[in-house]
Amino acid sequence: MIQKNFKKTNEKMADNVEPKANVTRLLANLKIRGKILEFNHKPVLLEECIEGLNINPEGIYVDGTLGGAGHSKEIAKRINEKGLLIGIDRDEEAICVAKERLSEFSNVKFVHDNHDNIKEILRDLDIEAADGILLDLGVSSYQLDEKNRGFSYMQEAKLDMRMDKSQRLDAQTVVNTYSEEELARIIFEYGEEKFSRQIAKNICLERKNRRIETTSQLVEIIEKSIHLKGDGHPAKRTFQAIRIEVNDEIKPLYNCIKNAIDCLKPGGRLCVITFHSLEDRAVKNAMIDCEGRCICPPGIPVCRCGRVSLGKMITKKPILPNLEEQNSNTRSRSAKLRIFEKIK
Ligand SMILES: C[S@@+](CC[C@H](N)C(=O)[O-])C[C@H]1O[C@@H](n2cnc3c(N)ncnc32)[C@H](O)[C@@H]1O
Repeated sequence: MIQKNFKKTNEKMADNVEPKANVTRLLANLKIRGKILEFNHKPVLLEECIEGLNINPEGIYVDGTLGGAGHSKEIAKRINEKGLLIGIDRDEEAICVAKERLSEFSNVKFVHDNHDNIKEILRDLDIEAADGILLDLGVSSYQLDEKNRGFSYMQEAKLDMRMDKSQRLDAQTVVNTYSEEELARIIFEYGEEKFSRQIAKNICLERKNRRIETTSQLVEIIEKSIHLKGDGHPAKRTFQAIRIEVNDEIKPLYNCIKNAIDCLKPGGRLCVITFHSLEDRAVKNAMIDCEGRCICPPGIPVCRCGRVSLGKMITKKPILPNLEEQNSNTRSRSAKLRIFEKIK
């Protein structure tokens, strides 16, 4: 219902078609605000992803979640002038920062779009298939920390939470227009919040008096609704849930993984890092379905299910960050990496 407001692919900002003036203005703005330096996102499971991608120096690689270009920089270092890196992000600020960070590399194309459109993105760039694709899902630390983006329960700001500022749905719309039942479901499913019903009820009571416009108003309602002290800030889970809804992070994921696998060359690899059990389930299910294991009853002489294998998951269990990484980067603690290899 909500997420149809992405640019059509022919309007998106591939390197050759992007409105340069817009990017230059945004970059200047970010520099004035010191944001390029502040884009402090530590790449998660970096070595494991680079090893997992098994980089061919002349290959074509897609980073579908460019962010601060932490992973991309390591990919760019490993490809030569015959290779190509395509960096996709739905956040224009991330694209600007990544352009600056990867300015020393000439063989990088930047695309402002949703990676769910990976097939159209590659088609528009005249690329048939990629040697490797990386998805490091969710938000960046920059998006969480940047006050004006309204993602954080720690900072007073207008409720926003859009990764792509050109989309219409924002956190204010979710909080002020969704029904009590919808809010309770989202907060429970996406936030795994035990007090989801109470929070949804109090949001609906409060908005009868006044529109809920800021992060602090929402935090206050959540704090009133939760009587038990649990782990972490009481607003953490609800904010995560609303962010996932605003950015439609779960529903398209299964198809996105299947499309990404379709876009791989024979022997190509897809590496996906998830931070939420619902994300991991969608990724795992899509990868299992692409393995196309035969589901015919045992003893049948000829396969009748007709399933076709596109390759196999080469991580039987997801790769987790080691203790050192978990201690040095708390954001990495819930990370899981799964890798799929296309059939050769
Ligand atoms: C966890 S960060 C990636 C950080 C990056 N790997 C790095 O090391 O700097 C996720 C990034 O992906 C972007 N993103 C999330 N979902 C997306 C989607 N569906 N399409 C395109 N970009 C997306 C976010 O805007 C954010 O910048």
